[in-house]
Amino acid sequence: MSLTHHRTQVAIVGAGPSGLLLGALLHRAGIDALIVERQSADYVLSRIRAGVLEQTTVDLLDAAGVGERMHREGLVHGGFELCFGGARHRIDMHGLTGGKQVMVYGQTEVTRDLMTARAAAALPTIYEAADVRLHDFDGEHPRVTFRRDGVEHTIACDFIAGCDGYHGISRASVPAGAIRTYEKVYPFGWLGVLSDTPPVSHELIYSNHERGFALCSMRSPVRSRYYVQCSLEDKVEQWSDDAFWDELRRRLDPAAAASLVTGPSIEKSIAPLRSFVAEPMRFGRLCLAGDAAHIVPPTGAKGLNLAAADVAYLSRALIDWYGGDRASIDQYSARCLRRVWRAERFSWWFTTLMHKFPDNGEFGQKMQAAELDYLVSSHAASTAMAENYVGLPIA
Ligand code: APR
Ligand code: PHB
Repeated sequence: MSLTHHRTQVAIVGAGPSGLLLGALLHRAGIDALIVERQSADYVLSRIRAGVLEQTTVDLLDAAGVGERMHREGLVHGGFELCFGGARHRIDMHGLTGGKQVMVYGQTEVTRDLMTARAAAALPTIYEAADVRLHDFDGEHPRVTFRRDGVEHTIACDFIAGCDGYHGISRASVPAGAIRTYEKVYPFGWLGVLSDTPPVSHELIYSNHERGFALCSMRSPVRSRYYVQCSLEDKVEQWSDDAFWDELRRRLDPAAAASLVTGPSIEKSIAPLRSFVAEPMRFGRLCLAGDAAHIVPPTGAKGLNLAAADVAYLSRALIDWYGGDRASIDQYSARCLRRVWRAERFSWWFTTLMHKFPDNGEFGQKMQAAELDYLVSSHAASTAMAENYVGLPIA
């Protein structure tokens, strides 16, 4: 079998938003990177994920030079609504946080913009790489190997960035004794539907209902994204479009239910909910970033924002390293994890507050109702929620 040798400064494993954003920020700083991705570009773009960007994520995409379409097509939101007890209550993020807002723009579009910019700059991404393996990251000469079209490839590099998501090979390559993981699996899933219908409201609605959680989100003024909490045993095929719309309507307040515009689903899928953190996030010359290191449940849409913050810290540490400050990379893991745990806490709290838990009982339901009441009637509680929703600073 023939062998191809590559040499780069940073080998990036995974071309999801983390890997692509890291590649873009490094390129701006004059650092070479080669991205290796297991799937095809079309496959990567077929994944539908959350769609709320914190201001710090927007700023990073701007810094990476990929913000133009986002600013043109994205929707700036200054608030969202909590629905419970048959009524909606607005959380005025903008007012409560001194003017901060979020950008509603799908992760798929962020990924597409990063891919387009990467291709336009003729930066290398190797798609459909099989049997990707990481070697020697405990020393100064790490390597990544893979196969493609019957050819063995080896990449010699200074650093490996593990941006290959929760199921990737990077975290799995770390010796068991060097890593500690923390996990919580929730006893339900989210059934999501994408449809070319106008959103039921101009802001997002998070609903706590006795039948279960529901979320009304959007991708544009003519494309909606809706979710209902479902059983982990449910299969997508069991949920007709009509059954989905009926269930969603039941979980909304009467006004929203009456004005919901329905239509054929253009995507329908069930996702499990999980909280997960791996510590540390750096092992010698291997740095994990994004879903490779941590997962949050989607309530609050922190996944992509956390990934972007990791990448901000990592690009900064690598730029420092090539600039002669070789100690900065030692801070990478601790810097990320501090923000990660705070976002884990918020996502877990918001999930716990909004969902129907099989073991909650009537007392648990009363506690949710009392907390929701407190949340929307106390300025301090609303402010704490708004501050977390718009995103904590990247220190
Ligand atoms: N070799 C190469 N690439 C791999 C491998 C492997 N062994 N395993 C997985 N990958 C690729 C996946 O195909 C995927 O394209 O790594 C990429 C990881 O992308 P994501 O899972 O999107 O993770 P990340 O880039 O960190 O983005 C985090 O995704 O799940 C959401 O909420 C999360 O929005 C957040 C974002
Ligand atoms: C989405 O639009 O897909 C979305 C929005 C907000 C969330 C989760 C998902 O909290």
